[in-house]
Amino acid sequence: MSITILGIESSCDDTSAAIIKDGVILSNVISSQKVHEQYGGVVPELASRAHQQNIIPTVDTAIKNAGISIDDISAVAFTRGPGLLGSLLVGTSFAKGFALAHNLPLIEVNHLQGHVLALFAKQSTDDNNQPDFPFICLLVSGGNSQLIVVHSPLDMEVVGTTIDDAAGEAFDKCGKVMGLPYPSGPIIDKMAKEGNPKAISFAKPHIDGYNYSFSGLKTSFLYHIRDQRKLNPDYVEQNLPDLCASLQSTVIDILLYKLKKLVNDTGIKQVGVAGGVSANSGLRQALLDYGQTNGLKIFIPKLSFTTDNAAMIATTGYYKYQARQFTGYDVAPLARMDIK
Ligand code: KG4
Repeated sequence: MSITILGIESSCDDTSAAIIKDGVILSNVISSQKVHEQYGGVVPELASRAHQQNIIPTVDTAIKNAGISIDDISAVAFTRGPGLLGSLLVGTSFAKGFALAHNLPLIEVNHLQGHVLALFAKQSTDDNNQPDFPFICLLVSGGNSQLIVVHSPLDMEVVGTTIDDAAGEAFDKCGKVMGLPYPSGPIIDKMAKEGNPKAISFAKPHIDGYNYSFSGLKTSFLYHIRDQRKLNPDYVEQNLPDLCASLQSTVIDILLYKLKKLVNDTGIKQVGVAGGVSANSGLRQALLDYGQTNGLKIFIPKLSFTTDNAAMIATTGYYKYQARQFTGYDVAPLARMDIK
């Protein structure tokens, strides 16, 4: 019998709903919130209100686009955490109400685990381009930078994590210093194509193990701009491509240094990347080059599956459904949640 999962994602500022049938995406609808742009970051209260307005039409469109009826749905999977509590509450409450009303099982999903399993969301029944187990996943988003050994879809071991800022935060905070709008990551990516990545050198961390740190880079970036502006007030405007290219290449170097160490230590030959920063064209190319020169298989998600989406939540729900990992209707969202 086929398994059809409705996935719901509402952890930050994207309201998303998706339908997955037997692991294949039938629909994936994302409703982004423009309301935050003028504030230079996500405003939690506004995000919750926008989720409330978006959730019903988004789910409705996902079901219609999939060409199914509610009766075809086997279970409802939703993001329980981590994320903004008010935003998570909207998705969680909707999922509970929907499941109760239609007598369906409920499946809680860890958002980070979802990002990793985005690599398994199939575009069609003959899409077999998924990693084998175990593989290493570099999870890089606005709130997380983690190295994960993925033993199976539901067995992930976080071996390294950031001890301060995440890679996405490094892009966004340095972008703010340069006067770029939020989120700055995609703009820096674009500007970097015109610049020289070796023009300026910034600080790189020296910490043990597989952990990451980006706060030193942020500070050295800030000091560099402060010092140069004293000499030339238009320094940033006149050197934007070089600043972006040098910043981006430093972030990529930091990320790859620990990834390579883990690959060498474990001997694992398959590497995936996930999360918002995995959209970065420089990082994607650097990973492909690294894979090619070292005989590794590299898995990079389609751009639409790098940022928050419900297809990854429904995919995780699909695996949990098969493992009969259901959740009680009394479940509450969690702002903080580790990958288990
Ligand atoms: O995974 P995500 O959508 O949100 C969560 O953190 O959950 O990631 C958002 C982050 C932001 O920091 C954004 O600047 C970054 O991903 N990002 C990028 C690019 N696209 C998005 N960073 C660098 N280059 C990009 N092309």
